[in-house]
Amino acid sequence: MKKGRILSGMRPTGKLHLGNLLGALDNWVRLQDDYECFYMVADWHALTTGYEETDSIRRDTKQMVLDWLSAGLDPEKNALFVQSQVKEHAELYLLLSMITPISWLERCPTYKDQLQQLENRNIATHGFLGYPVLQTADIIIYKATEVPVGEDQAAHLEISRELARRFNHLYKKVFPEPKILLNKVTMLPGVDGRKMSKSYRNDITLAAEEKEIKEKVQQMVTDPARIRKDDKGHPEVCVVYRFQEIFNAEESEEINEQCRSGTIGCVSCKNLLIKRLCEELLPIVEKRKALERKEGYVEEVLEYGAERARKVASETLEEVREAMKIYA
Ligand code: TRP
Ligand code: SF4
Repeated sequence: MKKGRILSGMRPTGKLHLGNLLGALDNWVRLQDDYECFYMVADWHALTTGYEETDSIRRDTKQMVLDWLSAGLDPEKNALFVQSQVKEHAELYLLLSMITPISWLERCPTYKDQLQQLENRNIATHGFLGYPVLQTADIIIYKATEVPVGEDQAAHLEISRELARRFNHLYKKVFPEPKILLNKVTMLPGVDGRKMSKSYRNDITLAAEEKEIKEKVQQMVTDPARIRKDDKGHPEVCVVYRFQEIFNAEESEEINEQCRSGTIGCVSCKNLLIKRLCEELLPIVEKRKALERKEGYVEEVLEYGAERARKVASETLEEVREAMKIYA
């Protein structure tokens, strides 16, 4: 017996990095045995802020799904699909938009923030305002009971719960109120110490091979107070040490002491980390390469996932049309 049904999604951002692995993907993998899972590439959502430049969407989708599979998401256990391949989401989005008060959307903090932050792009659009409505359609069309996401999505989930409630109240009880399942997040800095992010170019991708891993670890900032090898260090301010704690937990205590007493140099410390990261990442890279060699494989996985998703989505839509007295 499964514990419930899950839907979650990521916008297609291309190759994922270690921060994405620890912040989201690992959670998805962990949930796949206990829940019935629907994992989706939110390509329509990508259009809400990126409608002017769409050349990379398909390529980014494929690269991201390759990462999903390489990191251990099983296309048999889960429905892995692309949002735009399940058109039912669009119909439910339209119907939900009829019952969504504009004020709910205008006061959504992500809407207000992004509007300010991306002021160089014209995102004062109907589509961007409706972002949480589309996200709600994604979720409730599967009658998902849980939605694993990061804290940044909490406001959207609140709107989803309210919309599900509003629909049930106006017409008929069709939808469960989806609960947020906050991702367990291990905060990982980028090589420069800021948050790991593709746009800062301080990330390490899941597809990184040995050469890239080495280069990235060499770039990592260490304790600036350590000039000579036997200077006493402060691991708590060092990016390399943060990685040791996460990827080399067993040795990290010892490294901590050696750094503090000045008995390990940063070069050896970095070499230890390189070794551990290679052990961790190279199997993922190998799997990725094997999958890349299978011509058409990703497309096949996504087609199969979309079929499974459509089956559930179209059943829900029938209930929705019936409840709203709308023609099929
Ligand atoms: N908005 C989510 C993000 O940017 C992506 C997303 C789209 C999503 N639809 C979803 C997440 C449905 C959870 C459920 O990360
Ligand atoms: Fe950082 Fe390791 Fe150098 Fe200490 S020895 S400052 S933990 S890289």
